[in-house]
Amino acid sequence: MPRAFRNLMVTGGAGFIGVNFIRWLCDRPDFTGHVINVDLLTYAGNPLSLLGVAERFGPRYHFIKADICDALRIAEIIATYEIDAIVHFAAESHVDRSIAAPDAFVRTNILGTYTLLQAAREHADQIQLFHHISTDEVFGSLGKRGAFTEKTPYAPNSPYSASKAASDHLVRAFHETYGLPTTLSNCSNNYGPFQFPEKLIPLMILNAREGKPLPVYGDGLNVRDWLFVADHCSAIWRVMQEAKPGSTYNVGGRNELPNLRVVEKICDLVDQKAPPLADGKPRRSLITFVKDRPGHDRRYAINCAKIERDLGWRPAETWETGFERTVDWYLKNAEWCDQVRSGEYQKWIATHYG
Ligand code: NAD
Ligand code: TYD
Repeated sequence: MPRAFRNLMVTGGAGFIGVNFIRWLCDRPDFTGHVINVDLLTYAGNPLSLLGVAERFGPRYHFIKADICDALRIAEIIATYEIDAIVHFAAESHVDRSIAAPDAFVRTNILGTYTLLQAAREHADQIQLFHHISTDEVFGSLGKRGAFTEKTPYAPNSPYSASKAASDHLVRAFHETYGLPTTLSNCSNNYGPFQFPEKLIPLMILNAREGKPLPVYGDGLNVRDWLFVADHCSAIWRVMQEAKPGSTYNVGGRNELPNLRVVEKICDLVDQKAPPLADGKPRRSLITFVKDRPGHDRRYAINCAKIERDLGWRPAETWETGFERTVDWYLKNAEWCDQVRSGEYQKWIATHYG
């Protein structure tokens, strides 16, 4: 029997994947519970991405602006809303920011996860599942061949991936030591609607639209394994409903691509779908090779055989269909893009949340 959740706490539900997960859940006939979205609304949290969600869920949706590091507040929310499951997305998520200023990554990703785990443990009688969202970056960098499995040893290289690795270890320890019913998924790079345009794909689409330079790090041959965000959401839900406590699953779409290929594909799609550049040149002319990221992992690739075999999960999108849907979304949602780029959404947060 799949697990059913009455009061699901979603941390980081105003960020890219959290927003997509909550929107995806709105359409699930097998979810009739409440969603309690707990998000601090940092620069990456955008309530404008959630417009319409409250209407679709009706009284089953609650948004709470709170810090996952605030133990008293988290305990109060778990008790007040009778939370029976937690899906934990909240994090600092951008590698370049972690290189420039790791402090927030250590605080949110490690201390924040620990705080949530402790609160869950203190409410053990009511928590049936703690699902932790993690990344394939904890496994480090691959050579030309091979792919990460669930048994690959952790070897994180950036402050971001090190902080996520630490949080994964805490999740594992709380299961092994205290019997907390945890599950964990390590996913490859996501793309799709509502992603903050500091990440490769939305940054390139918006810069290409506007005729701005497209900064490619190093030689552009670093490889990422891309997954459309809705496919990540369906994998998370499958794990949450069916996976054994203590289990971990790798999630990926077998869509390995060098960054340069991704950027070229985006250029071609934007050329097809947006007005031409003023100088009439193809968007590929905007590609600019820039200084490489320090410690830049060369290649990620996910072996997702376990989730396919155990839980029957399959992604619905190929990178071709997913990229096209994504480019269309950013071109059609210029208002959202402009509000994010101009910082307008932060004025909205200040007005509504102080
Ligand atoms: P994001 O940066 O878009 O969103 C993070 C959200 O967390 C934001 O809404 C932010 O306001 C919130 N947040 C930050 N600090 C908080 C705090 N102290 N308390 C409460 N809320 C806080 O990130 P994302 O891309 O949506 O990633 C979500 C999760 O998925 C992260 O755990 C990330 O490590 C993981 N992940 C991301 C990817 C990817 O490609 N984006 C891939 C695999 C795993
Ligand atoms: P990113 O979206 O930051 O995800 P991650 O670092 O978590 O994989 O970057 C994806 C890849 O694109 C990564 O190899 C770094 C590269 N990249 C660029 O070449 N230029 C850019 O402007 C950005 C943001 C990333």
